[in-house]
Amino acid sequence: MLSRRRFLLTSALAAGAGAVPTGFAAEKKWPDAVDDLRDWGAVRRQFDLDPRYIHLSLFFMASHPRPVREAIESYRQQLEANPLETIERLVFGGPEDYIPTKVCNAIASYIGGSADDIALTQNTTTGLAVIYQGLPLKPGDEILTTTHDHFVHHEAIRLAAERSGATWRKVPLFDAYGAISTEELVERLRKAIRPETRVVGVTWVHSSSGLKLPIRRMADALEVVNRGRAPERRVFFAVDGVHGLGVEEPDIVAMGMDAFSAGTHKWIFGPRGTGFVWARPEVWSVMRPIMPSTSSAELFFAWASERPPEPPARATWFSPGGFQAFEHYWAVPEAFELHQAIGPRRITERIHELNAQMREGLAKMPHVILYTPRSKELSAGMVCFDVNGMTSQQVVWRLVERHRILATTTPYAVPYARVAFGIQNTPEEVETTLAAIRAMA
Ligand SMILES: Cc1ncc(COP(=O)(O)O)c(C=O)c1O
Repeated sequence: MLSRRRFLLTSALAAGAGAVPTGFAAEKKWPDAVDDLRDWGAVRRQFDLDPRYIHLSLFFMASHPRPVREAIESYRQQLEANPLETIERLVFGGPEDYIPTKVCNAIASYIGGSADDIALTQNTTTGLAVIYQGLPLKPGDEILTTTHDHFVHHEAIRLAAERSGATWRKVPLFDAYGAISTEELVERLRKAIRPETRVVGVTWVHSSSGLKLPIRRMADALEVVNRGRAPERRVFFAVDGVHGLGVEEPDIVAMGMDAFSAGTHKWIFGPRGTGFVWARPEVWSVMRPIMPSTSSAELFFAWASERPPEPPARATWFSPGGFQAFEHYWAVPEAFELHQAIGPRRITERIHELNAQMREGLAKMPHVILYTPRSKELSAGMVCFDVNGMTSQQVVWRLVERHRILATTTPYAVPYARVAFGIQNTPEEVETTLAAIRAMA
């Protein structure tokens, strides 16, 4: 058994080192049976959403679209029928069956870059921990972040700082929502960097306000800082990208960061409990894994022959290992394929159009304070606001109780009301939501 497993593992892990699989187990009913995805109504019908509601919080947790549901169901049935052989074939089998490669290929074909530079995680949070705990930090180093990031991002930084002896600092990138400019965002970040700063961590689209940061411009500014530094003192640029992925144009690697973490269970509508980290190979090579991976042949054989793993460290060393919710993981490619089939550019345009319609409508209401910038350059798929005389929670309750509109409050120290229009929504739903908020005057 051991030698068979060992043999199986060898071929599977070799596949993880870059081979392209040729066959997969999910019986594909899609795309043959798919509707004409040029029609947004057909896109909406991919989801089993309760039609009695207007769903404006799908960025929070994905509803699985039909291709994803069907792939999950197909894998689930195989696992129920024969867990051992299904896993041996798809996880420990030959390169042609090895699904993690297919998953990384699907992600890479969407974000750009190489599938070899992708570690698979369970969500954005795990990915942020992989990045910050993995970076080579020591006492005297500093992690610089902003006051606008999510709780889990700051926690990942706090825990990594505590363990490494590094310090961390938060800076605001703007003073008032009404007066945010790209130049100011970049300049504030650049000026906050100190000689001891070794990592800069930001969030592509703030779930606190809907503000989208100019990541490419920030990466350029960091590049200039790094030109004046010795390689071992360079500043790493880490991005929580979860609310840009699947909204903005997909050439993510081209934005120039060093490491990027996102869940695939929000705007990409991938299976719940899936995500990834992409990092440059030279960044993976200086990082340290924080937990055992079962995706790397080198790690396994180093253990089996009682020797240290042969550097350099690479992405497969960082995928948190052990058995997973496999039927979810294996269905990740279907989510990316659906995005590609609809057309990433069309998706970006549609999401921007709907959310701009919402922002413009709110901006005309004297009883509403709009926090999300109105320009396309500084916004993405979310709109955050307050209604005078009501708490954000009261606004959200009123929307659901009187109008069956599903909005959220932002989970930050100062919460706002938040709506997010995605590819399932319509211009009519924007108007209905605006009318509901108008009625709160
Ligand atoms: C900006 C941001 N980062 C991270 C997360 C956590 O995401 P996940 O559940 O994929 O870990 C959230 C949650 O919505 C978020 O808004």
